[in-house]
Amino acid sequence: AWLQESPLPRAVPEAARRMAVYGPADDPLLCTAAAEWGRAVRAACGESPARLARDPGGAPSVPCVAMGLLSAMPRGLREAAQAALAGAPSDEAYAILPVDGQGVAVVSRTPAGVLYGVFHLIRRLRLGEPLHEPCVSSPKNAWRMLDHWDNADGTIERGYAGKSLFYRGGQIDFDEGRVRDYARLLASVGVNAIAINNVNVHETETRFLTEAHLPGVARLADVFRPYGIRVFLSINFASPVDLGDLPTADPLDPRVEDWWRATADRIYRHIPDFGGFLVKADSEFRPGPFTYGRDHADGANMLARALAPHGGVVIWRAFVYNCLMDWRDRRADRARAAYDHFVPLDGRFLDNVLIQIKNGPMDFQVREPVSPLFGGLSATNVMLEFQITQEYTGQQRHVCYLAPMWKEVLDFDTHARGPGSTVAEIASGRLFGRPHGGVAGVANVGDDVNWTGHSLAQANLYAFGRLAWDPSLDPAGIAREWARLTYGDDPDVVRTVVGILMASWPAYEAYTAPLGVGWMVNPGHHDGPNPEGYEYSKWGTYHYADWRGVGVDRTMATGTGYTGQYHEPMRSLYEHLETCPDELLLFFHHVPYTHVLHSGKTVIQHIYDAHFDGVEAVAWMIEAWRRLQGRIDPVRFERVLARLEDQMQRAVEWRDVINTYFYRKCGIPDARGLHIYP
Ligand code: GCU
Repeated sequence: AWLQESPLPRAVPEAARRMAVYGPADDPLLCTAAAEWGRAVRAACGESPARLARDPGGAPSVPCVAMGLLSAMPRGLREAAQAALAGAPSDEAYAILPVDGQGVAVVSRTPAGVLYGVFHLIRRLRLGEPLHEPCVSSPKNAWRMLDHWDNADGTIERGYAGKSLFYRGGQIDFDEGRVRDYARLLASVGVNAIAINNVNVHETETRFLTEAHLPGVARLADVFRPYGIRVFLSINFASPVDLGDLPTADPLDPRVEDWWRATADRIYRHIPDFGGFLVKADSEFRPGPFTYGRDHADGANMLARALAPHGGVVIWRAFVYNCLMDWRDRRADRARAAYDHFVPLDGRFLDNVLIQIKNGPMDFQVREPVSPLFGGLSATNVMLEFQITQEYTGQQRHVCYLAPMWKEVLDFDTHARGPGSTVAEIASGRLFGRPHGGVAGVANVGDDVNWTGHSLAQANLYAFGRLAWDPSLDPAGIAREWARLTYGDDPDVVRTVVGILMASWPAYEAYTAPLGVGWMVNPGHHDGPNPEGYEYSKWGTYHYADWRGVGVDRTMATGTGYTGQYHEPMRSLYEHLETCPDELLLFFHHVPYTHVLHSGKTVIQHIYDAHFDGVEAVAWMIEAWRRLQGRIDPVRFERVLARLEDQMQRAVEWRDVINTYFYRKCGIPDARGLHIYP
């Protein structure tokens, strides 16, 4: 992936070939940091860096890479680093400082910060950037987490890259080297937490809390620990009942509270730095507090009290909606659900609870507005949830670089506290002064040799980590960095890879469901076009296309009232046809096919054009990729080419099914005279 170990085509600076480590010799993260630097230099130039003898108090006598804890640095360096880190809010922040012209120091208040700083230095080494350029970097989000939807039987819910890295045959069973490499990848982009099992917790995984399975969980935690990554478990809210211990899982029953307290105590005996629980409750048939007439705050707080003495947190998902809806009821609206459920509970959650909110109000569609729960909650910790795995965005058979979408979400201004109340400010906890915050992503990896099935999907994992650390980064810049680290310096390769990545989300959006309407997929597996696949279903996912028009009226004036969940001015912006952005028009409004967009096109002509153009974009990607033959290794070249060619077939299928669907509805031909199958 992006930690390539090929020799570098340029000289490695002298100072990089020596290192000194300051801090406890047995600290596992400092050991990792030193080992990673050693490995990177060895790969780059064939020789391990010399480890300078520790000279407490004294600065290194020759230019080197000096890494270590602020408290342990020699005096001069310590003072410089202290000044540099003074304004950095996070203990995971690091400073990179020049030392006497040639040398460089990587300093942090914590071992994890040193590790992140060393990975930054490794990036510079691989990219040929000057190592000693001064910089300070502090993560914007305290929790930077990956959620694995892996099952004990080795399958992965919505996984498109093979089987689980963690489980085989109903057991925690893994290839330690592979998982360690995975931990290296994650730490190198700043990820510091991982939920190791599916939010839909089945029978075997319910038992992960028991003595029989905790040693296995602990072994996984042992692999992640030296990389600064804390392990979480997804739990089944009905565990006390399902494990046969109690007749109830009522969160207000003292026996249940005791049960969870004993369970937490047991987990922490095995894993002293256990992160906590991830909970999907009262959602899509998962058990939860509703069974007992209790609410989400009752449920989450009960678990939070069990974890609090150990420093653990509860990550409680806001993905709660009625999945038994009636399509005949035009007033019912799934998009409203999370806000309607959680806003009334604002302020009731304990300080070690975070509410994990999907980026949009529906479910990871290629285009959705931002969830109004961001800005709706102000006295509750929140966490933003992205889907890195491409469930609705091409299932890793289509290239779809998601960082530009994520960036739009992070930059979205909710106006909850006036201008500048962005999702990034809210998720981090900063806007409302919350004690916890963060960003989670549903993982896109499996045991495929290239981790992500589609090699280019690695860019999404990379970008997720980089944006979770620093939401101000530019997606194209991240793509460029990733492309160079992964494929090397050839400018044509880098330009092409970045061009394909940046064209990919717009292309996918263009040839699939139009203008924010979403959901025109096959039910169940969610792959491929099926315009009415969810139209009359109970899942609440409608577009209401008929012979006159299409779209969902979510206005306050005549629709479901969903627009009222936003703060002004967004509320009015979405409420009115004149101001609603084109790309979300059909999410908010039901309009005739002849409605004219801000772009000047009619809705129907936009649909046709987008679908033809989207396919053209894929044709361009294939042509561009083919020109790289011989310039990247044949294995990755051929595999990506095969995926792109497959994507072409699928894009054509999407184009024709969607265009024909709408043509048959409205009978309006394409203005350009392009062929639409009747
Ligand atoms: C989607 C997805 C499910 C998943 C759910 C969730 O609906 O299709 O597989 O369980 O999201 O986020 O809980």
